[in-house]
Amino acid sequence: MCGIVGMIGNRNAVPVLVEGLKRLEYRGYDSAGVAVMGADGVEIRRSVGRLTQLERVLASSPVSAPLGIGHTRWATHGEASERNSHPHSGGQGRVAMVHNGIIENYAEIKSDLREQGAEFTSDTDTEVLAQLVASKTESGEFADGLREALREARGAYAIGLLARDQPDTLYAARLGSPLIVGRGPEGTYIASDVPAILPQVTDVIYLQDGEVARITREGVDIWDLEGRPVAPDWQQVELEETAVDSAGFETFMLKEIHEQTRVLGGLLDRYVNGLEVTLPDLNLDEETIRNLDRMMIVSCGTAYYAAMYGRLLIENFTTIAVETDLGSEYRYRNPRIDDNTLLATVSQSGETADTLASVKMAKEAGCPILAICNVFGSSLVREADHLIYTHAGPEIGVASTKAFTAQLTAFVFLALHLAEVRGELTFEKKAELLVALQKIPLSIHKVLESKDRIREVAEKHHDGPSSLYLGRRFNYPIALEGALKNKEISYQHAEGYAAGEMKHGPIALINEYLPVICICTDTEDEVAEKMISNVREVQARSGRIIAIASEGDTRLHEITEDILFVPKTRECLSPLVNVVALQLLAYYAAQARGTDIDKPRNLAKSVTVE
Ligand code: G6P
Repeated sequence: MCGIVGMIGNRNAVPVLVEGLKRLEYRGYDSAGVAVMGADGVEIRRSVGRLTQLERVLASSPVSAPLGIGHTRWATHGEASERNSHPHSGGQGRVAMVHNGIIENYAEIKSDLREQGAEFTSDTDTEVLAQLVASKTESGEFADGLREALREARGAYAIGLLARDQPDTLYAARLGSPLIVGRGPEGTYIASDVPAILPQVTDVIYLQDGEVARITREGVDIWDLEGRPVAPDWQQVELEETAVDSAGFETFMLKEIHEQTRVLGGLLDRYVNGLEVTLPDLNLDEETIRNLDRMMIVSCGTAYYAAMYGRLLIENFTTIAVETDLGSEYRYRNPRIDDNTLLATVSQSGETADTLASVKMAKEAGCPILAICNVFGSSLVREADHLIYTHAGPEIGVASTKAFTAQLTAFVFLALHLAEVRGELTFEKKAELLVALQKIPLSIHKVLESKDRIREVAEKHHDGPSSLYLGRRFNYPIALEGALKNKEISYQHAEGYAAGEMKHGPIALINEYLPVICICTDTEDEVAEKMISNVREVQARSGRIIAIASEGDTRLHEITEDILFVPKTRECLSPLVNVVALQLLAYYAAQARGTDIDKPRNLAKSVTVE
């Protein structure tokens, strides 16, 4: 969602801000702006649309200064327009602010400020916060007034702020939305994430919730909201620049689809030693695992489909009762949870608002928290007692690919580990699964090699208004994920369904125009025959069947000519292979439809507001 960059240094900040915002584009945005501390106070430039628009504004009305803040906005309060774009000012230009998050009590604050004579020029909650800060900092120590204003704000924020009366200071604060401070040879920076300022910095501080930072050329002071000093915790940046460029691929998404062989291979190297699964950050002692009888897995978006797969696996290998829910639903339920329930979450970013809120709710009920997460230092990681890192590297394409297969793999490790400790999996079975798992990177590689065939099928079927994805058991979540990928990047309506449920509704949609993607790779499973029966039901109604089938399976030849063959693996691991074919199918459909694949309209990479 919104992205923040700021700089105080010894050269013009504007190119650094614009470059940083470009590196945050992947988060999703609809307008952008910068503010700098000019000789006559704060100067703001903003525009609706892509960053190229902002660059045009800056070219026709240039600004330059060594202190500035920048922002990409994803509209929440008020339409995407120039007047709603950030930075917003308060106190007639005394402060300028960029903000990520939502101020929940902005309406109350706004009406109080109006009574005191404040005037507003936008519909945003951010302008209200900027005006509040301005009203609290009219006199006295600026940082005191800033903290007082922030104590009054309810909701979530990461902010960057300039104050006219302090021309050599950059302020930053966070509560619930990510923000880092970074330093390098040419200055000190703030940003929503490390990749945004990676070329400039050597060390970063991950600001914690409720911290306020004052950044000058002399150094960084941090306090909590009550004004108690906090020692800055500088950490060396370990990320490499090559992790965040597109490496010659036409899009980040295509690069990330191809990275899956390496990511999964890396996870196997890291977590599997011979026939041993070792999860170093899990920290779940054996007695706890043996006594575990309930698990709840909560997540959002693609990560929710990983959770569904996780449930199937854990239930398959252990006697633990597992439930899943979406973060946005779970947090408003009244679930029966206590310290005997392990609350597991899956999240690429570790910043998804509904996932985090669910974690906080479960924590209050005494649940231990397990997080499967891709981002070190993220909010979720800080909340969790038990961790499995997915080590997929930065994922820039908005539609998740390598992070998803890494999440599925993490669930395989977790299920095997739980089952083994509980004595619910024989050594032979475990060995068989691990041997099969070791072959998955090669199988994914083979799917990638068949991309021309996948493109051909995608181009043949991309043009309709809708498509249906069917799968059963382990591949039911994959049908959902395949449909999600398709709608996210190609904007074609797509519905994922449990194949057995098709007769209860979607069958009415089937005609000679509807592409129906059927995942039929499980040939020996107890649902294998049933899946083929479902495919025949689609055939009987003239649906355009695209089958995903295991190499060598001849059953589908008489049903459809559009078969995407993938290497055969064990049925419970087949999602790891099948989803790659579906990612490519969506990718090439999107390409044929001419969409902006890395930055699909309206979507945000990390949904940090409710
Ligand atoms: C957004 C992203 C999805 C992601 C979901 C959950 O919708 O576009 O790709 O699956 O958020 O994000 P998380 O970071 O918690 O995995």
